Amino acid sequence: MILNVNGSRHEVEAGTRTLLEVLRDDLGLVGAKEGCGIGMCGACTVLVDGKPISGCLTLAEQVPGKEILTIESLEKNGQLHPVQQAFIDERAFQCAYCTPGFILSAVALLNENPNPSEDDIREYLSGNLCRCGSYQNILKAVVEAGKRLR
Ligand code: FES
Ligand code: FES
Repeated sequence: MILNVNGSRHEVEAGTRTLLEVLRDDLGLVGAKEGCGIGMCGACTVLVDGKPISGCLTLAEQVPGKEILTIESLEKNGQLHPVQQAFIDERAFQCAYCTPGFILSAVALLNENPNPSEDDIREYLSGNLCRCGSYQNILKAVVEAGKRLR
């Protein structure tokens, strides 16, 4: 099957594997992480047609023909995406295991709603968990990224 990942078409033999497994094991895109493996933590978040989904719960065979974006797609010509830069500037991580998932969810949120309230941000990112408890700085980073993108 052909998967459209980060703007390129990739021929893969996915079998019954998850999208997360195919991205990591076949395409070498290891930004998306396996945390819980059961759809509870958001570490495996990728965007499919602009929406955050759990790569650990999605079979690769469900997504041919869709536009799949991983964290690796955000930096362009050596320039970080404003959401990535805001996470660095606001120190919105400690171990960073959760960070790619949070950033992709934040990108999707800001595409849908360029000026979200803090409650909107908490609600939209509620599927992403941070074991290090960096929530306050993550919130600040998303607010700041929104300002920079507007
Ligand atoms: S690893 Fe997919 S939601 Fe936790
Ligand atoms: S920074 Fe460690 S899990 Fe979020």
